[in-house]
Amino acid sequence: MDQFDLTSRLAADAPAPAPRFTGFPRYNFIGGHNDPALIPLPGLIEAARAALGRDGTKLAMYNLSQGPQGYLPLRQFVAGKLAGHRGIKGTAEDVLITSGSGQGIDFVNRLLVAPGDTVLIEEFSYAGAITRARQSGAKVIGLPLDAHGIRIDALETILADLAARDIRPKYIYTIPTIQNPTGSILPLDRRQALVALSARFGVPIFEDECYADLLWHGVAAPPALRALAPSQVVHIGSFSKSLAPALRLGYASADWPMLARMIACKADGGTGAIDQMVAAEYFTHHFTGHVATLSTGLAAKLAVMQDALAAEFGTAVETWAPEGGIFLWMKLPDSVDVRALVAPALAAGIAFNPGPEWAVDAEAAKSQLRLCFALPTAQEIREGVAAFARVCREVTGIPPRSANIAHPGD
Ligand SMILES: Cc1ncc(COP(=O)(O)O)c(C=O)c1O
Repeated sequence: MDQFDLTSRLAADAPAPAPRFTGFPRYNFIGGHNDPALIPLPGLIEAARAALGRDGTKLAMYNLSQGPQGYLPLRQFVAGKLAGHRGIKGTAEDVLITSGSGQGIDFVNRLLVAPGDTVLIEEFSYAGAITRARQSGAKVIGLPLDAHGIRIDALETILADLAARDIRPKYIYTIPTIQNPTGSILPLDRRQALVALSARFGVPIFEDECYADLLWHGVAAPPALRALAPSQVVHIGSFSKSLAPALRLGYASADWPMLARMIACKADGGTGAIDQMVAAEYFTHHFTGHVATLSTGLAAKLAVMQDALAAEFGTAVETWAPEGGIFLWMKLPDSVDVRALVAPALAAGIAFNPGPEWAVDAEAAKSQLRLCFALPTAQEIREGVAAFARVCREVTGIPPRSANIAHPGD
């Protein structure tokens, strides 16, 4: 009998096939990985022992017999963290644990977006948020950014233009506290103006605070948008950046009518219970100390990357100044299309995120790119940036040789 071609029966909208995973390149600056040296292993081992010793028999039941919102001690921790650090009032009843905050993005799109709807997203943003909105059939409009986040004047103009055409966007998606990819923090006056515009035009805010726990020492963030206007805002967050992305733990906070709909979307039998138990146990005792240590380590790596870029690219690169997080967003001269660098960089063992994939208007970000500094060691950052500069020079002539002040003979 002929080989059965199962894929000939796929639905029309089935996703394209995934490539086989062939491992990471030597200098891996892509994605949102964490620093392996800063995973608090002894603390996690101790937390696993304590949590399993206390609650382990509950693993016999779906959702640990605590219902679909998630493990109660973890929801209590999240509610306390949101109240204490982000000004969001509420209890464990206002929190849904998700399998990564990406699942929260899926739920919000599923609940709010129908094909043909419009959504507003910061002009440079998390690729997963732009892609998911488009997969839901949304038309995505980019919101202009400056060094402090959304430009409120531009947002007002966009909302007024759309209202004049009877278009009410389904949401304004924003990462106000350590924006991905720019690393900015939206100041309080802009937050107040943003929630006022949301109320005036009747457009909900979808607030993503994936990186809000990772602020540089001495940097303070204003209250979350959900703290300022609770009923207008769906708020999501993650443990991927503050603890570990392999855990697949995120959360959502919203008023009950919306949260109840999100819970209705949670048809996966519950987020991994041991992950929830370990994170709850560890963070209930060590959250403040851990994020301080992590942020200090990340800030040191950022400094290494900034120095390496200055040495290798000189004035050919303009970098943003992140106030926390794990990414550096930068721009090469307009003549450089970073998409032409992806393959030669990979061949040289370097992976980076091209700006067009992190932008609502791909063409407008053709000279921009994002580097994650959390995963590589300081030495890998130095070597990888130097190797990237070599590739860039070979392909585009930029940076010119004179920019390379660290290795003039190179
Ligand atoms: C802004 C933002 N939101 C959400 C996510 C999804 O993260 P996770 O599903 O690991 O929580 C990411 C991942 O990098 C992100 O950058």
